[in-house]
This record gives sequence, C-alpha cells and structure tokens, in this order.
Amino acid sequence: MKRLVLLTLATLISHPAMSADSGFPLYDMTPDLTDQSSLQRGAQTYMNYCLGCHSLQYQRYKRTAEDIGIPESLMLEYLVFDPNTKIGDLIENSISDENSKNWFGAVPPDLTLYSQLKGGPEYLYTYLLTFYEDASRPLGANNLVYENVGMPHALMELQGVQQKVCKEIPKLADNGGQMMDALSQAYITEQVCGMELVERGYSPLQLVENSGRLSPEAYEQVVYDLTNFIYYVGDPSRLDRERTGVFVLIFLAFFFVPAYLLAREYKKEIH
Ligand code: HEC
Repeated sequence: MKRLVLLTLATLISHPAMSADSGFPLYDMTPDLTDQSSLQRGAQTYMNYCLGCHSLQYQRYKRTAEDIGIPESLMLEYLVFDPNTKIGDLIENSISDENSKNWFGAVPPDLTLYSQLKGGPEYLYTYLLTFYEDASRPLGANNLVYENVGMPHALMELQGVQQKVCKEIPKLADNGGQMMDALSQAYITEQVCGMELVERGYSPLQLVENSGRLSPEAYEQVVYDLTNFIYYVGDPSRLDRERTGVFVLIFLAFFFVPAYLLAREYKKEIH
C-alpha cells in the first residue's frame, strides 16, 4: 500500500512536459474560472470568430449567461446573432456539415468537451498561437501542433501573419554540456522550430490603418480568454463542485469531533 502511494506520488511529481502529436511542446496555460471578465471576453470572441463553424451543442446560452455573469438581455442583444434563437437554446453553429466538407475538407468538431478530450486547456491554447503561413495549403495556413489542419486561421485579423522558423541548435546533455558524436567527433544538433510574426494585423476586410491590430501580448490575452471560456464550457459546474467539496471537507472535520467522542462513550460500555 505504502509503495503504491509512493509510486503515485512519484508519477505526479515527475509528470513530463506535455507535447502534441506533432512533437511540438505545449505552452503552459492555467485557466481561471473565477475571472468572470476573462470568461466574458472569451465568450465574445467565441461567438464572433468560432461559432460560425464550431457548435457548443451540449451547452445552453442561458446557463452560460448565468455562470459567467452576463445579463440575459445583453447576451441576446450582443452575443446571439440568429434572431430565431432563444435564451434557452443550445449553442448551435450555422454551417452545415455538407458545406464544411466541401469547403474545408473536414467537418469542424463540436468544441463543448474539447479541453477534456485533449487532457487540459494547453493543447487548444498552443493550437491558437501556432498558426503559420503556408502557401502549399489550400487556405494558406498550417499549424505547428495540428499539421495540415483543414481550418483557416480564424483569428488572423487579430494576430497577423506568422511564419515558421526552424534552426539547428546544439543538443545539450543532461549535465548541460554539448553532445558529441563519438565516431565523427562532430557536435550533435537538433532542429527547433518556432514562430515569427512577419506581418501584423493583415486582413482583407480591414484596410483601415490600425483597425483590429493587436500587439503579441494582447493577442495572447485574447487566446487565453478564449481558451479559458472553452475550458469552462467543458465542465460548467466545476466551480460549484469545488466550492461544495471544500464545505464537505470542513463539515467532515467538525463532525469528526462529536463522532470520535461518541465512539469513545460506546467503547466504554463494551469493556
Ligand atoms: C471557417 C470555419 C471555421 C472557423 C471560423 C473556425 N474553425 Fe476551427 N476548425 C474548422 C475545421 C473545418 C476544422 C477541422 C480541421 C481538420 O480536421 O483538418 C477545425 C478544427 C479545429 C480544431 C481542432 C480539432 C481537432 O480535431 O483537434 C480546434 C481546436 C478548432 N478548430 C478551434 C477553433 C476556434 C477556437 C475557433 C475560433 C477562434 C475556430 N476553430 C474557428 C473550421 C473553422
């Protein structure tokens, strides 16, 4: 038993940094469900930039409005674009699967449970930061964590155009020294790829100077908020549950005292 506990602890502590299927290491992202303004901004970005293609079909507008602190009337006025949609409806997308297949070669998946599917929000966060220009792709965009993705870079007008830059850098051993090939005596190198912003705020629709352009920090914030929102949608009662959990633990701690005293009284009678 003790060994099992130790083993579990060891795996928890030595949890390796996560990486995508493509091998690209994922960026860290710590969601904050208590930050309602972040969730509200995320919802706004989602409704404006993602809902056209991706539904959140297990989540209702009403619940979302309540949870993230948006009055229902404002939600209907600013975040629901289809006049026939009611506040109690599920969050459906507008594009048909058939059209998606014809236009993008793939159907945009429902994103309600996406962060659960990917074991946390890190994958989505990294995905939204690593679109790059690739003229060989039908829509001109590719992605570092999802190679040859069928989705266009939906947030390009906010971020601008990135290019993929790869460099050969010396491979380091565990002790920090450079690794050398024993036979050829040459240093061993490895290829490391990253992103470089080459054109800021490009958008065919926004030719007006400065409109919609974001600094890299502001774009990261947009992506953070959007990821935070999609993380919330994946498990809307997470905050409530955690709060209840704390109450239950406090209750059990207090309840322990009378239960213990009572047990002692019972034991006295047995002896
Ligand atoms: C124009 C339609 C369109 C828009 C807008 C769009 N997507 Fe997509 N998205 C797609 C398609 C199509 C795919 C499937 C691509 C594939 O599998 O090759 C996809 C795939 C994805 C995936 C990867 C799914 C997987 O299988 O791992 C994620 C995550 C995603 N989209 C998130 C978003 C987010 C967040 C937004 C809003 C910023 C957004 N998308 C906007 C069409 C769109």
